[in-house]
Amino acid sequence: EKGGFASFMDKEIHDQPQAIADTLLGRSDVQGRLVLDDLRIDESVLRAVDKIIVIACGTAAYAGHVAKYAIEHWCRIPVEVELAHEFRYRDPIVDGKTLVVAVSQSGETMDTLMAVRHAREQGATVLSIVNTNGSTIPRESDAVLYTHAGPEIAVASTKAFLSQITAAYLLGLYLAQLRGNKFPDEIAVLLDELREMPRKVQTVLERSEYVRATARSMAGADKVLFLGRHVGYPVAMEGALKLKELAYIHAEGFAAGELKHGPIALIDEGQPVFVVVPSPQGRAQLHSKVVSNIQEIRARGARTLVIAEDGDDEVRRYADEIFWIPQAPSLLQPLLAVVPLQVFAMALAGAKGLDVDQPRNLAKSVTVE
Ligand code: M6R
Repeated sequence: EKGGFASFMDKEIHDQPQAIADTLLGRSDVQGRLVLDDLRIDESVLRAVDKIIVIACGTAAYAGHVAKYAIEHWCRIPVEVELAHEFRYRDPIVDGKTLVVAVSQSGETMDTLMAVRHAREQGATVLSIVNTNGSTIPRESDAVLYTHAGPEIAVASTKAFLSQITAAYLLGLYLAQLRGNKFPDEIAVLLDELREMPRKVQTVLERSEYVRATARSMAGADKVLFLGRHVGYPVAMEGALKLKELAYIHAEGFAAGELKHGPIALIDEGQPVFVVVPSPQGRAQLHSKVVSNIQEIRARGARTLVIAEDGDDEVRRYADEIFWIPQAPSLLQPLLAVVPLQVFAMALAGAKGLDVDQPRNLAKSVTVE
């Protein structure tokens, strides 16, 4: 069943191009207009939405964080992202114009399910983005948008993350189309860019041997930091989560802009720091900010492990290691940038002799609150 791979996780990392392609499949018509047939939700309800709250846990919540940047940009609707267990036990401001988007691979996460129930009781419309057909969360939601990643067996979530981002982007584009925020030809261009992503993820996978070798050489690390800005920030947090749960290494993801507000004090000689560098094309300002963050931490002794886009010559000068990814529009970069971080955590755990499919103390689906 592992398809010749050493672990389910390794197989699932390699399933990722297909997971994105399958999640996109059949969701636009010949004119390139998005059709989300399986959504079954009244268009007038979606047109009236004035706030979106994404609720999820763990990796699914980081997918929601990524989607916030895209949906707000495309639709001009405020998007909040909240951990389901935090949402459930406060007094959230929710009404009939709130769209709650519950993201879950298993569709059985109890924290997320309880938050779904709570949101519906408050009058919100709940749409779930779920991978497992017929699971509880979609049954209790008003609508569902399935990701088509196929079964995910390894405890650490990988292909679900990429397909959750893809599905949430489809939702964002659909809302933009419905509400007239974007012209049909703009939607078609964005969809074409999304359709390019499976091929680009494949390219990242083909380059992964260098990531594995680097990970093997770092099996003795006891703390690793991850930095990113904009959509690179949730990617940094996801990279840290993967390393914690698989390799039992203390890891933390930061917004790079926070460095001087505290975390830079953690940097000393030899401290490994991953940095997700935004595209130099799309957002030059953001790029130069991150480049100066790399210089700042390097001046304090950090060993910089940089994820950068092909052709980014400037960053080359400041990186101890570079993991190159293909160029992509800024909002789509997370689908590429997270892949070396997944491979890194898996390979490092493997080098420590740990079971990457079944990390200690964790269950694949957390069905208790
Ligand atoms: O099944 P779900 O997507 O609802 O699960 C949410 C989290 O429990 C899950 O993403 C967890 O954080 C993973 N172990 C991360 O790799």
